[in-house]
Amino acid sequence: MKPWPYPRIIAHRGGGTLAPENTLAGMRKARELGFGGVEFDVMLAGDATPILMHDETLARTTNGSGAIADTAYRDMLKLDAGGWFSRGHAGEPVPSFDQAGRLCVELGLWANVEIKPSKGFEAQTGTATALAARELWRGAPVQPVLSSFQPAALAAAKQAAPELPRGALTKGIPADWEHWMQVLGCVSLHCDYRMLLPQQVRAVHDAGYWLACWTVNDPEIARVLFDWGVDAVITDRLDRIAPDFT
Ligand code: G3P
Ligand code: MG
Repeated sequence: MKPWPYPRIIAHRGGGTLAPENTLAGMRKARELGFGGVEFDVMLAGDATPILMHDETLARTTNGSGAIADTAYRDMLKLDAGGWFSRGHAGEPVPSFDQAGRLCVELGLWANVEIKPSKGFEAQTGTATALAARELWRGAPVQPVLSSFQPAALAAAKQAAPELPRGALTKGIPADWEHWMQVLGCVSLHCDYRMLLPQQVRAVHDAGYWLACWTVNDPEIARVLFDWGVDAVITDRLDRIAPDFT
């Protein structure tokens, strides 16, 4: 099979632990340190604007409160999504997916776009994210990979923009993984490295798919995973795993 055509070290949630998660500041940090790829989470705000957010509520990563699905993006823009992380990042806004996508293209940062739906919004989030990604990366030299834990989100992304590559996110690799890869038309499987066995790396490759692991924060573990043949690792520790670590 073709080698993995994307960066092998991917910054988790934008800038890992060096910046507030899922912010433009994090992406700029990753780029500044020489990283070629970032992972971030896309969820729909209450008015259906795709935004960068991991949790279903505002509490942990902003100075606001309430459900993401109940908050219009114009109201989120009044919040601080960086002050919880450090004083220097106070005032950092919740980015829209449009802003994040445009920044990735501008900086030449490859993106692993995780579709992270609020419960009940799986298909809607998959469709909106895929349609927006198609426009944002139109004509770009490298397309993003859209990944999700939610099969319904991936199925909707496939229907909306079948040409965009997709990755199936799992914790452990389930027994029927190959079925799901086929049904969802995925190119890659993204699993929790703690659940991975070396024979599974071979099986995934033998079936013609790439394998990425999250969230790998120890360079010695990254070394073992690459020795097993893992194609890419997603890391929080941009200070410990260099962009050219292979
Ligand atoms: O995409 C890999 C990783 O981001 C999945 O976990 O919870 O950080 O989105 P989480
Ligand atoms: Mg994620």
